[in-house]
Amino acid sequence: LIEEIAPSPGERVLDLCTGTGDLAVLCEKRGAQVVGLDISLPMLKRATRKTSRSLLVVGDAENLPFSSQSFHRVIMGFGLRNLSCPRRGLKETYRVLKPGGTLGILEFSPSPSRWIRSPYRLYLKTILPLIGGLVSGNRGAYDHLSSSIEEFLKPEEVIKEMEGIGFSRVRHLKLTMGTVIIYLGTKEEK
Ligand SMILES: C[S@@+](CC[C@H](N)C(=O)[O-])C[C@H]1O[C@@H](n2cnc3c(N)ncnc32)[C@H](O)[C@@H]1O
Repeated sequence: LIEEIAPSPGERVLDLCTGTGDLAVLCEKRGAQVVGLDISLPMLKRATRKTSRSLLVVGDAENLPFSSQSFHRVIMGFGLRNLSCPRRGLKETYRVLKPGGTLGILEFSPSPSRWIRSPYRLYLKTILPLIGGLVSGNRGAYDHLSSSIEEFLKPEEVIKEMEGIGFSRVRHLKLTMGTVIIYLGTKEEK
């Protein structure tokens, strides 16, 4: 995702649902001015251990506390699926992007390549919650992870949402047999 978005030194990058800040750190390393936003303070507290220069903000990706046209790039890693209204979150990304700016999203897909669909479903439904539950002691979190992936929008639906909001040059790249997708779109200069 970071290679595709390719933030340049000095550019303002917004990392939505930044969590513990891994993507923010990668953008920092490229010299970008990064703002990491997450709704969870405990996640951001962990991010402070990794990031040195990013500004970390507690906030809601569906109602961003930033003025319009204030970022060159907006990225979101494994966050869109967690929003109560993905469309609202996407609209907010469009609003805060500068004209000519790009959005990059990394997200799981419920429809990976056909030949791995059955084993992947088995993995999501049984193996992942079992192992995740044993390691973390919180099986419920991994049951939620599985169902949030299975119930999420298909790639063609995410693309339709992005285009409907106004993004152009929308494209997607499949990773790991289509289990994860990078979505890219541009806010055209008018
Ligand atoms: C699976 S984590 C992803 C973290 C990080 N981007 C990564 O790739 O490692 C999802 C994050 O989304 C955050 N989140 C969920 N709903 C949110 C919202 N409405 N606004 C901002 N952050 C939200 C959660 O607190 C969590 O940190």
